[in-house]
Amino acid sequence: MSALSELPPKPVVGDTVPHEAAVEHVTGSALYTDDLVGRMRDLLHAYPVSAPHAHARVTRLDTAPAYDVPGVVRVLTADDVPGVNDSNINHDEPLFPDEVMFYGHPVCWVLGETLEAARLGAAAVEVDYEALPALVTIPEAIAAGSFQGRAPTVSRGDVEAGMAAATRVFSGTWEASGQEQFYLETQASIAYVDESGQIFIHSSTQNPSETQEIAAHVLDLTASEVTVQCLRMGGGFGGKETQANGYAAIAALGATLTGRPVRVRLSRNQDLQFTGKRPDFLSTWEAGFDDDGHLLALKVELTADGGWSMDLCQPVLSRALCHIDNAYWIPNIQAHGRIAKTNRTSHTAFRGFGGPQGMLLTENIMGVVAPQLGLTGEELRRRNFYRSADQTTPYGQRVRQIERMHQIWDQVLADSDFAGRQREIEEFNATHEDVKRAIAATPVKFGISFNKSSMNQGGALVLVYKDGSVLVNHGGTEMGQGLHTKMLQVAATALGLPLAKVRLAPTRTDKVPNTSATSASTGADLNGGAVKHACDQIRDRLAVVAGGMLGVPPADVRFAEGTAYGLNSDRDPIAWDELVHIAYLQRIQLHAAGYYRTEGLEWNEETYKGSPFKYFSYGAAVSEVEVDGFTGAYRTRRVDVVHDVGDSLSPLIDLGQIEGAFVQGAGWLTLEDQRWDASDGPARGRFSTQGASTYKLPSFSEMPEVFNVRMFENATEEGAIYGSKAVGEPPLMLPISVREALRKAAAAFGPAGISVHLASPATPEAVYWAIEDARSRTPEAPAAQAVPAVAERQRVPSGV
Ligand code: MTE
Ligand code: MOS
Repeated sequence: MSALSELPPKPVVGDTVPHEAAVEHVTGSALYTDDLVGRMRDLLHAYPVSAPHAHARVTRLDTAPAYDVPGVVRVLTADDVPGVNDSNINHDEPLFPDEVMFYGHPVCWVLGETLEAARLGAAAVEVDYEALPALVTIPEAIAAGSFQGRAPTVSRGDVEAGMAAATRVFSGTWEASGQEQFYLETQASIAYVDESGQIFIHSSTQNPSETQEIAAHVLDLTASEVTVQCLRMGGGFGGKETQANGYAAIAALGATLTGRPVRVRLSRNQDLQFTGKRPDFLSTWEAGFDDDGHLLALKVELTADGGWSMDLCQPVLSRALCHIDNAYWIPNIQAHGRIAKTNRTSHTAFRGFGGPQGMLLTENIMGVVAPQLGLTGEELRRRNFYRSADQTTPYGQRVRQIERMHQIWDQVLADSDFAGRQREIEEFNATHEDVKRAIAATPVKFGISFNKSSMNQGGALVLVYKDGSVLVNHGGTEMGQGLHTKMLQVAATALGLPLAKVRLAPTRTDKVPNTSATSASTGADLNGGAVKHACDQIRDRLAVVAGGMLGVPPADVRFAEGTAYGLNSDRDPIAWDELVHIAYLQRIQLHAAGYYRTEGLEWNEETYKGSPFKYFSYGAAVSEVEVDGFTGAYRTRRVDVVHDVGDSLSPLIDLGQIEGAFVQGAGWLTLEDQRWDASDGPARGRFSTQGASTYKLPSFSEMPEVFNVRMFENATEEGAIYGSKAVGEPPLMLPISVREALRKAAAAFGPAGISVHLASPATPEAVYWAIEDARSRTPEAPAAQAVPAVAERQRVPSGV
């Protein structure tokens, strides 16, 4: 039973079970980092001194007045740092900056007996700033030549020759907006020096090992002297992959200097002002098609806004470049990426990690171009799908299982009765002048594994106590996505136990070291592989003991439902607890460390070639919308999804992930309008959408009225944990279908066959402008565009 996908008898994986903390979540009894405040004695509260400039030099910092405020205990500044004044592993983010790089940038922190004392203390700190010119948009950064990091290119074929061979060439400029993670629990840490002298940090972090690393180097300690625990997060969505580290370091520094526990917890407003978001992308593109609508050549330049420092934007950009192809064969391509450096928050991971931005660019091209080629968007997409698994992506990876993409596409069109509803919609639109409906389908192909091969490893520590109870530790963090539930199911399956027999311990760096962030949707693959590895070792040892008792060779012992039995043995099965106790008396080791690394990955960061992904996740969605011609307001009438999760480890969890990701992606694409102050006034660079009042998030009312989610069947993924596939991020890109439906609905207000541009996010306002654009067209000029221009140059094919 070594194959990862091979199932033992009576597996617990695949059972429909609720999230392991569902009851606690809904009753409010689940604890999050900041809930531990009530358990700490002598706790101090930290409050930042936040700079009112997007870019400035600190010319004077006087902390003395803060000490006059009652309840202020200590002000933390750069002078207090015993180690490196640094909050990011790229070493480009001073924890206490002398140059303010974004509006709100904390320059120092005040510790107080109460949060109010700390706040008043922070207000009393005197800071003089010398304002410096600030870049607050991507075009400003481009104009100033302000970039950071590397500017890689993915290329294949001869893009110029492909463009010359194309009979239709289109080009445009396109901006995909950013997105705020808006996890319900804001950034939070509590640190103290424990009874053994180590620094213990509770942190709401997706990456406890990196939080440990940063705190250790700020404090000039070794990793072995710092322990980070993450009990659970109230959402991370990528926003706590790196961004938690600095706050944990502040808490840890405060705790070492005062000897008291220190709490850092950002208010919603601070969290919005300080923390990085999904980077927005400005792209220019040129796409050449033949008369049949085959994409022959694609040339793009992606500019991501990194904000003031790199954070994760290099890997985010890599993933964008590796997802421009989405599900399409592009024989000639040249995709160049670069990262702007602006005076905004340091942008970071957000579900999909650049993949959505890359994919959206190509889907936007498909949507804009299809009517001009006389094809439906669906037909244009289908014609361009990869056809065979021997084809490779632009970076050179074979598109294994691409037949699933075709099957899923056919299934979702059939399940949704796409053709029938298309006809109904045409009838509806013919009789409704001021309201239009539309239906659209889009595909998703998303690569699973970290692009950076070294990160694809996971660890676990499984302890069996002599009473038979089982405690599982693994390196992944729980942020609501159900990783812990899946890990419990994996352990129960591997040990042949009922779920209730297995308990999960909070994620801690002193149990499992050197872990990768729980991100890139790899949590279940990496940690599941490690948990299974640990359990397999214990089970194999117990099989020797049980085999002796049952009179069968160890290989013929099976574990299921809390017993061990022998194949072809007439002796009674042995109960797990009894077997464990006997094994203990025989001095058999009842705990094991598990380890997993993903095999077969290769990636060359220089050439941007290789096979960085273990496998692809496939999915497709059909969405129907109705749009009001007076206001641009819309609703999503129905969504059908078919998505590939392999053999689901936990169907209810996966269903929740698909629905949640869909709605979150729809939020990004249609609602969440980030506004940064780009004026020349004093608030230049400030993030103006500072709360739920001005940042519209999807809520219950934005859910599709009918929402059918199906998982692709008979989908065993050989070589991944119990045949499953990752699910966390890929479904986020399914709602591109909502956007495409909105585009079609807007176009339906104009003459037949026109193509309209739609801004992103497609807010009611943006949809309204697309409608106005459609209304302004005449049948004779179907391709003319209002804002912004999508130009088409007719080309004579070479040789004619
Ligand atoms: N689901 C919930 N409820 N909350 C989250 O924060 N994060 C997403 C996704 N699903 C998230 C979530 C992101 S960005 C990733 S990368 C994956 O979960 C991480 O978990 P996994 O690797 O265990 O799927
Ligand atoms: Mo997810 S963006 O990879 O944390």
